[in-house]
Amino acid sequence: MCGIVGYIGTQAATQILLSGLEKLEYRGYDSAGIATVLEGELHCVRAKGKLYNLRDKLETIVNPAKIGIGHTRWATHGKPEEYNAHPHMDTKKRVAVVQNGIIENYRELREELKQLGHEFRSETDTEVIPHLIAQYLQADNSFLEAVRQTVNRLKGAFAIAVINADYPDELVVVRQQAPLVIGFGQGEFFCASDTPAIASYTRAVLPLENGEIARLTPLGVEIYNFAGDRLKKQPRLLNFNPAMVEKQGFKHFMLKEIHEQPGVVRASLEAYFSNLGEPTESPINLGLPEEFYTDLEQIQIVACGTSWHAALIGKYLIEQLAGISTQVHYASEYRYAPSPLTPNTLIVGVTQSGETADTLAALTMEKERRQGKEPKYQARLLGITNRPESSLGYLVPHIISTLAGIEIGVAATKTFTAQLMAFYALALDLAARRQTVSKETLENIINGLRQIPKQIETTLESQERLTEQLAHEFAETQDFIFIGRGINFPIALEGALKLKEISYIHAEGYPAGEMKHGPIALLDAKVPVVAIAIPGSVYEKVISNAQEAKARDSRLIGVTPVNDGEAAEIFNDLLPVSHVEELLSPILTVVPLQLLAYHIAARRGLDVDQPRTLAKSVTVE
Ligand code: AGP
Repeated sequence: MCGIVGYIGTQAATQILLSGLEKLEYRGYDSAGIATVLEGELHCVRAKGKLYNLRDKLETIVNPAKIGIGHTRWATHGKPEEYNAHPHMDTKKRVAVVQNGIIENYRELREELKQLGHEFRSETDTEVIPHLIAQYLQADNSFLEAVRQTVNRLKGAFAIAVINADYPDELVVVRQQAPLVIGFGQGEFFCASDTPAIASYTRAVLPLENGEIARLTPLGVEIYNFAGDRLKKQPRLLNFNPAMVEKQGFKHFMLKEIHEQPGVVRASLEAYFSNLGEPTESPINLGLPEEFYTDLEQIQIVACGTSWHAALIGKYLIEQLAGISTQVHYASEYRYAPSPLTPNTLIVGVTQSGETADTLAALTMEKERRQGKEPKYQARLLGITNRPESSLGYLVPHIISTLAGIEIGVAATKTFTAQLMAFYALALDLAARRQTVSKETLENIINGLRQIPKQIETTLESQERLTEQLAHEFAETQDFIFIGRGINFPIALEGALKLKEISYIHAEGYPAGEMKHGPIALLDAKVPVVAIAIPGSVYEKVISNAQEAKARDSRLIGVTPVNDGEAAEIFNDLLPVSHVEELLSPILTVVPLQLLAYHIAARRGLDVDQPRTLAKSVTVE
């Protein structure tokens, strides 16, 4: 999604904006631009494509301006061309705006402004904003007031940053359902769509809330609501490790993040399973209040993409361990077809970024439709996120923070593992409190989880070379099928998604038993099948399903335990993982699939960390 940065202070703005934009590249973009105010004029430079195109253009320009805004654009309205790149300006080029989001009523506003003589130069929804601000400035409003009146006319979800050639000491920023954080330095202030863009300059940050406007000057920051009332707010200290946004010797962030997974599991074990041995109801510590658990009858989970896959595993764990009926919905579908209202229901939103528009909207809808109902129907809302400081953090009263650290690669890897750990903790916590599993079983599962970091390390060591070799052979393959059953069916979906999104190879994940009901017709020698076959309740079934594929000439790749003789006979290629209980296996079986997707994409010479047309967090519907 689009990325915004802004700066006002004592240093030259251009380099700060460019380095901020670099840190936002992970969000996905197709053009970029910056605007500054120097000697009473706006200077705007934009370029199609990657940031180095913008950097090239800026190299020849000497610009000591100390205020500016920057943007990486992920096209929604209008082609990814330079004339659509942000910043956009009003007709007289006095006001420049960058925006992340969508202005839903831009057509009416554009017509209205055209009638008033404003000249439009782009196809974007954003361009109405500088024209509208200019219109309100004409009526003798201050800059801040003109922005305030403008945002009150906008419909949609947006974050904006605005500069004005006539107000060289003011940067005005607004948040309305799209993320924006302000950074506080010494005599200098920043804004950005995400903290990595400003974390190398300051750790004192204030995430704006929806419906807030901030006026940044070299002297400080003032915050207002859309009605114009001044608000009192204090920045807080960001807990951020700059090493997280460096590749640390790995060729790509994605590979680094795959290798960080043992650490993620260790951190999760430490955080969630710290009650062991204490005489409490549950050995799990999620920091949730007692009333959260009382009379709980049902769980509804909303999520998108990889988070949806983690939620499917969560459903399996919660139902099998705690016996609570659980439904998992695509957030984008749930918004328009919600389940009937059920009593004593926990609503869970899973989103690593905490900014996915559909997930936030589904949670908001659920919260609103339960408001004013009798107590048993009222919303119990829980978020599972890697970014507790995100919009999700404001929306729901309870959060389970996943402990992956910031993830830069667009393809989610370590955040998926962190989400799985959160679901193991939640399911076991519920099971312990409801006494649906024995103490001994609970301890066995937790002990099994404690073995996982080492087992992932072993898998990573053995798989790196194997998956690289396979990638060499499959670099030109056009279709892949992934099959799994039970708790490993979502891993088949996740393996297929990883391959699709970074290698652009068509891939489908299926429950192995469903192949006979149609998809098996796709199979021939050109379509390899990856089967996840872990001893347990469905092992023999998956092996038979794999054999059916082999009978159609498909090359079979098995994700199986090491030294599994039966598997070695059936599969053409093996991606072995450590011996592990079926219930815990997804945290291990996903690893070779992540590596396979990574190596195929790298072999094909693709931009692994920023795949085409994808955004790290989808902040528009
Ligand atoms: C994962 O590899 C994808 N990039 C994507 O499916 C992602 O999981 C989805 O957009 C949801 O994002 P969220 O977890 O931030 O809500």
